[in-house]
Amino acid sequence: MDAFRIVGGHPLRGSVRISGSKNAALPILFSSLLGGSFSLSNIPCLRDVKTTLLLLEQLGIRISVAEETPGLRDPSPGSDSSWSDRLEISEGETSSFEAPYDLVRTMRASVLCLGPLLARRKKARVSLPGGCLIGARPIDMHLKAFERMGATITIHHGYIDAETDGLEGCEISLPYPTVTGTENIMMAAVLAKGKTTVTNAAEEPEIVDLADFLVARGARITGAGSSTIRIEGVDRLDPVHFSVMFDRIEAGTFLVGAALLGDEVTIREVNPAPLSSILDVLMAMGAEAESRPGQITMSAIRNPRGVSIRTLPYPGFPTDMQAQILPLMAIAKGPSTVVETVFENRFTHVMEMNRMGANIEIHGSQAMVRGGSRLEGAAVMASDLRASAGLVLAGLIAEGETEVRRVYHIDRGYEAIEKKLEALGARIKRIQEELP
Ligand code: UD1
Repeated sequence: MDAFRIVGGHPLRGSVRISGSKNAALPILFSSLLGGSFSLSNIPCLRDVKTTLLLLEQLGIRISVAEETPGLRDPSPGSDSSWSDRLEISEGETSSFEAPYDLVRTMRASVLCLGPLLARRKKARVSLPGGCLIGARPIDMHLKAFERMGATITIHHGYIDAETDGLEGCEISLPYPTVTGTENIMMAAVLAKGKTTVTNAAEEPEIVDLADFLVARGARITGAGSSTIRIEGVDRLDPVHFSVMFDRIEAGTFLVGAALLGDEVTIREVNPAPLSSILDVLMAMGAEAESRPGQITMSAIRNPRGVSIRTLPYPGFPTDMQAQILPLMAIAKGPSTVVETVFENRFTHVMEMNRMGANIEIHGSQAMVRGGSRLEGAAVMASDLRASAGLVLAGLIAEGETEVRRVYHIDRGYEAIEKKLEALGARIKRIQEELP
């Protein structure tokens, strides 16, 4: 298994290109099940993207790598040489409708095939995703919405079987603004008969990206990015070329890296607006950010101050940035608190950070960070995608050597993070974990 060996304390300097967004690319790729053809660029080279492509191919989608457009992207350090970020996608002959357990269990976002399969093929068989380390993560809201739209759903032997004679638009009021739930409903409604209104919809920028993409294909969607989304069904979607938005969580992770150790770090190909809750917290801790079109520059905070934050649905502070902000809170002057409101068990990284010298206590959904700690390198274990990024950042400021194990989690959602950090001056290497 791969691990990262990090020697802490080296400043970060220079600029880094932020990759395409994982959480925007996945629903856009799954929307290929709505039929027709299109091409995409700025697709990040990630394990979750490759899993999605594999699943889509099993469901009869044809995917080919397009000729790379010169200048489309500069050679990002460490990107997979066999990878192009530009894909041509079209519907093939087969009309399979099953998403098997082996693929769904490695990536919960596989449930995003449910809505488009029901809308286009009127049938879907998708393995129940089950729980995961950060919480139970049920998909009851997705299923109830499809039932309201006219699907019959049964669950047997760990599989969801969904069928319909044809989905019909309706009013759906979500009990919680679920992100993939909102996307799944939006995709189903695009080909449903009549009008669908989703209230208490999630407002994440990735939902706006999916809506922009579908509208460019001829879908009728208004209100994406607000809590009420209206969709009027159409018969089919048109071909289009679309470039996926930047990854705001990768951008936020590099911004925290800059706030810890930056000697002028610039993140490129970003838009500051979707980063405002992250920037607000960093500024409250003492950071100064300089924004220019498409880029943000930040340097290390001299004397970071403790802050109190709550993770919330967008536009609040993202739960996906909670693990990464903790190392900064650990070294800050004064205490900080983090209340995790989105997932019930998202502090698995705290024990490992405490082994590195942080002083963080967990009380239910609240982490109390004492502050003023000096972190020391240690061997630590990554437990999920964002937790791994938090541990890498902790390793960058820790004194001495840190080994972050099980980095396969980080490869799900960060494109060549070690190469990008190394290019900025960090001492980080991917190694083979030494087994006892
Ligand atoms: C998405 C993101 C993930 C991010 C999360 C919250 C993708 C691919 N993943 O995950 O990176 O951490 O949003 O910003 O975009 N819930 C239910 N029933 C449901 C659906 C959700 O109880 O039917 C609960 C979940 O257990 C969780 C909360 O609602 O506690 C939020 O989940 P949700 O917004 O659905 O997260 P995901 O879409 O899975």
